[in-house]
Amino acid sequence: MKKLAILASGGGSNARAICAHFDSHPSIQIGLILTDNPNAGVLSVADDYKIPTMVLNKTQRNDSSYLLGLLHQYQIDFVILAGYLKLIPKWLINAYQDKILNIHPSLLPKYGGQGMYGMHVHQAVKDNMEMVSGMTVHLVNERFDEGKIIFQATTPLSPDMTSIDIAKTVLVLEHKYYSVAIEKFVNALK
Ligand code: GRF
Repeated sequence: MKKLAILASGGGSNARAICAHFDSHPSIQIGLILTDNPNAGVLSVADDYKIPTMVLNKTQRNDSSYLLGLLHQYQIDFVILAGYLKLIPKWLINAYQDKILNIHPSLLPKYGGQGMYGMHVHQAVKDNMEMVSGMTVHLVNERFDEGKIIFQATTPLSPDMTSIDIAKTVLVLEHKYYSVAIEKFVNALK
């Protein structure tokens, strides 16, 4: 059994889709959900799926022996970011080399980097009159949104779409494909 930890800061809709996908999966399990936000929606996801969860404060997040100890205790093999807004420290990247995935709501390398999250991304896509957008799953390195891309899905845009329409359309793709991309990635490393 491969065990995944989800890190999320916000609404948690991707975390919910991932938990649904891997619920009763024969070889992949969500073993732990971590958040930096005591009000994160992901806490109710953890509750619904009976997954151990922890809200990490700043001291805990920056303490390598604490956090790596926690991941070790829950026998975590892969770390899945699902709307986690903090930069992942180098010691965590080194400990989980090429085993940390992130999802981004644009076709990277476009519209990524520091400050490019949530509606900032979709507004920039709209402002640039893009005719296509989508989602990217990538490996995490020390820079925001720059790790190796492992999966992308696209959607056409029309000029009458607002940034909110774009966000909704891309989120549907995220829910549909992130779990599948995770599953393929984890299975390929077996
Ligand atoms: C998603 O758009 C994801 O691509 C980005 O953060 C958002 C998280 O949304 N990294 P949710 O919390 O999963 O609803």
